[in-house]
Amino acid sequence: MTVTAPPYREHPAQAVPPGRILRYSFRERVVHWLAALSYIYCLLTGLAFWSPWLFWLAIALGGGQISRMLHPWIGLIFIAGVLQMYGLWARQMGITDDDRAWFRSMRYYIRNEDDKMPPVGRYNAGQKLLFWGFFVCGILLFLSGLVLWFPEYIPWSLRWLRYTAILIHASSALLTIGLFLIHVYMGVFAERGAFDSVIYGDVTEDFAKRFHPAWYKELFGSAPRRK
Ligand code: HEM
Repeated sequence: MTVTAPPYREHPAQAVPPGRILRYSFRERVVHWLAALSYIYCLLTGLAFWSPWLFWLAIALGGGQISRMLHPWIGLIFIAGVLQMYGLWARQMGITDDDRAWFRSMRYYIRNEDDKMPPVGRYNAGQKLLFWGFFVCGILLFLSGLVLWFPEYIPWSLRWLRYTAILIHASSALLTIGLFLIHVYMGVFAERGAFDSVIYGDVTEDFAKRFHPAWYKELFGSAPRRK
């Protein structure tokens, strides 16, 4: 049986093999990797500008001048990706009572005692937090980045704006680094099968049952039985 994730209607190009469930449409995957790759470029070049110890990163990426020139342009691709993600996922990322209960039960999640966790839909509360964290930090990075990109347009009387922009740019970048490391660890190592879903689009039914039982129920109409 081929199942597509709501709110997407089934499309022949998105058909998945029997026993598997479509988790990410082609568009969702393209947007995800657009945001991810542009983020990684900005991260590496940003770290190079941040500390002389890390300047070798800029050299490895083509030199200081090229990195300085491309960093804000690739940053525009990153914010475009984040805004696209907002359009695709914001409605599914609303924090519910189940999510608040999920945070309170975090100790069971860490101990892999999934059966003690409240029901998880298409995204768990941690994933929602990552989404909103990247969204808010993305906007802050964009706005502060604009000030740093065109300092000549900031009058002397508003010079505090430049200092504030430096502070906001660096601190929101640091916040995203924390989110990014947790995200990559969870997506690649902790939730087996998740990484394939952002490449090929689909997951096994077992993946949906284990990590997103309420999503499984939404798709199939009955809750998975606990093993
Ligand atoms: C090398 C970098 C990255 C890897 C390996 C990666 C991996 C993944 C994986 C495996 C998923 C699917 C998780 C699931 O459905 O259970 C996912 C989803 C997602 N990714 Fe990434 N990602 C990367 C970078 C990013 C970046 C930079 C952002 C932010 C702009 C981002 C934002 C998201 C969001 C919002 C989702 C959906 C919610 C979630 O699963 O957290 N990812 N990613």
